[in-house]
Amino acid sequence: MAPIRSVSLAFIAARNSTLRDSCMLIFFSSIEKLLCYIIKDLIISSSEQVRYHLHPRKKIGFSQHMLLVTAAIIETNGLILAARRKPGCQLAGYWEFPGGKVEADETNEGCLARELSEEFGVQCKIGDFFGDSIYDYGTKRVRLLAYRVQHLSGTFQCRDHDRLCWLPAHELLSLQWAPADMPFVVKLQEEHQVTATLAYYQDNAREYIQETIDLEFTGQIRQRFLALLAPDSLVLDLGCGSGRDSRFFLEAGHRIVAVDPVDAIAESATEYLGQPVRVQKAEELEETNTYDGIWACASLLHIPRSRIEATFTVICKALKPGGIWYMSFKRGETEYQDYKQRFFNNYTIPLMEQVLRQYPQLSIIDIYESPSLLRGKVQPWLNILLKKSTQAPQITG
Ligand SMILES: C[S@@+](CC[C@H](N)C(=O)[O-])C[C@H]1O[C@@H](n2cnc3c(N)ncnc32)[C@H](O)[C@@H]1O
Repeated sequence: MAPIRSVSLAFIAARNSTLRDSCMLIFFSSIEKLLCYIIKDLIISSSEQVRYHLHPRKKIGFSQHMLLVTAAIIETNGLILAARRKPGCQLAGYWEFPGGKVEADETNEGCLARELSEEFGVQCKIGDFFGDSIYDYGTKRVRLLAYRVQHLSGTFQCRDHDRLCWLPAHELLSLQWAPADMPFVVKLQEEHQVTATLAYYQDNAREYIQETIDLEFTGQIRQRFLALLAPDSLVLDLGCGSGRDSRFFLEAGHRIVAVDPVDAIAESATEYLGQPVRVQKAEELEETNTYDGIWACASLLHIPRSRIEATFTVICKALKPGGIWYMSFKRGETEYQDYKQRFFNNYTIPLMEQVLRQYPQLSIIDIYESPSLLRGKVQPWLNILLKKSTQAPQITG
């Protein structure tokens, strides 16, 4: 908006300060504000792939005005702050993350800092963007933008709400949330479950490795995978755990890149393989057309469904055209947390086929169920063997 501001200021400067000129100043500044609103709205409308996290079937007309609102995810000592809307206001009694409406002349971050100071009496540092959510309340359409926020000073006061509450992520769903805030509650819960899963492997690395290092349950599929590799292939072992399968491929004459996101697991596998194991999540892969084969045995099952497609995209990009990819999941229809607090994302054959339909560059060599015996229990697994098309366009970015 800088050019409009300078035009209006130049206009004023060129005249004596009469009442008429002051009126002109107000007029131009109002036009400037109006344009700000219009442009902000246009940017939002054109950039949004309207996401209906909660009511996907609810169609929203673009004519309706979209309210831009910010929300703060404030976490202190593992507890997250929620505020209850006071009686008499819209959505009274519903819980929300602290925040408020973005004014025309402020940034999202500036708005959040101001709202936290005005409504809660605290000074905060606005951190990373957390996510956005669009919700149609019927009378108004809200786009909620959430940021991670660090509390710096001041004691939280309840000035515009009737209650404040600090809760661990896994208890957030015990509150009745304003619908627009719900996607953030779900995301926070997922994050908590993933953190608990990685903490389990970190704290139990030694026992877990002992239990799985000699397991034979990948024997048959490993041979099949091996038969599809050309000599001296480069294989990525994604979520390598003990390093059992990496070692098998190394001994078969291939080169291995082994990764695992858990420090203690990666350290132990580094020693076992005699080569460094990278500490990394599958979602963080950055390579392009690099690997002849990607082996992801029982590791992508710890990635929530909301992130699985983005993960498949980066894995697919890392695979060379003509490359092969194996992955396995527990067979099931839903996500769940086991008694050890490990999070699992399970699939059936039809569910997995549905996800894979979005990747025309991948063809299914085989998809089948197999039982495996672990800790005296027979567990049905889903195995998927894929090939990336040799015609797949060379990805450069
Ligand atoms: C069930 S174990 C399987 C380990 C090994 N692949 C095997 O078959 O023995 C799951 C492994 O996945 C790793 N893991 C968890 N989340 C992951 C993620 N987002 N990306 C890659 N690996 C992950 C864990 O650290 C753990 O080593």
